[in-house]
Amino acid sequence: MSNRYVPVTPRIGAKAVMGKQEALDPKNADEITAALEHYGVLLFPQIGLDDDEQVIFSNNLGEIIPMGALRSDGTHDPVYKITLDPKENPAGSVYLRNTIGWHIDGLFDDGPPAKATMLTGKRLSATGGQTEFCSTYAAYDDLPERDKEYYESLRILHSLETSYRSTRPDAGEEDEASWRKVEAARARSGRRGEKEHPLVWHHRSGRKSLVLGMSADHVVGIPEAESRALIEKLTAHATRREIVYRHEWTVGDLLMWDNCGVMHRVIPYDPSSGRMMHRTTLYGVERITGVERTQAVGSAH
Ligand SMILES: [Fe+2]
Repeated sequence: MSNRYVPVTPRIGAKAVMGKQEALDPKNADEITAALEHYGVLLFPQIGLDDDEQVIFSNNLGEIIPMGALRSDGTHDPVYKITLDPKENPAGSVYLRNTIGWHIDGLFDDGPPAKATMLTGKRLSATGGQTEFCSTYAAYDDLPERDKEYYESLRILHSLETSYRSTRPDAGEEDEASWRKVEAARARSGRRGEKEHPLVWHHRSGRKSLVLGMSADHVVGIPEAESRALIEKLTAHATRREIVYRHEWTVGDLLMWDNCGVMHRVIPYDPSSGRMMHRTTLYGVERITGVERTQAVGSAH
């Protein structure tokens, strides 16, 4: 890997040592993509891209999913505003609060999950608001060799409701009502709130990673208590400090991650803090596929 990337931890994340012009030059796109897959997370410290520049940077690396505000011509802005202030983003009060739990973006989409996401720090919170990443490749690699085959035979049912509950254990009636509204809106647009995935993703590259997160409801086909214990054990394994990078933001930082090889979460912060991130996300190019299920689930570990 080029010496333009300096690892920030031994297992995940690197700082890109390049100026704005180099970062925006399409000639460097393949190298940046390769570095992203290698390190999982790339940081461009205080590079200070404005929205147009972030769109150029993102378009060099893939195709942006337009998720921002609806524009007068009926299209959506490519830049999505991450804030908990409902005046700035109506999803802030319900949906975005779930981002405090570990997750992979787009696990419920019909197509492949997003390829990569870029965030520019615009305004920060006085406390909290750090973004954390763990390497799901490292999580797989670090499993005991003798257990890998068993884990590869497992499938997990992911549920949006499990996500909501895991981030709001003391939810009241108001929260319940909010969930129902979000679920109903998703259902109306034909999107499901549940989806099954293999625990181990076999990537085209030959690498393997774990597919987990706060939406993991249960392991298919094993008793509930055993399933819950297994998910907790694997989650603890996948989020050990030595495979986590915690980003302490400075305004103007650009942070991007390989959504197929990491889980991420934000450390809780005050919703009225004004914290604002501008996000662009790239369409996924690879579906989550596991090993063919050629044998029944083996004994529990
Ligand atoms: Fe996310």
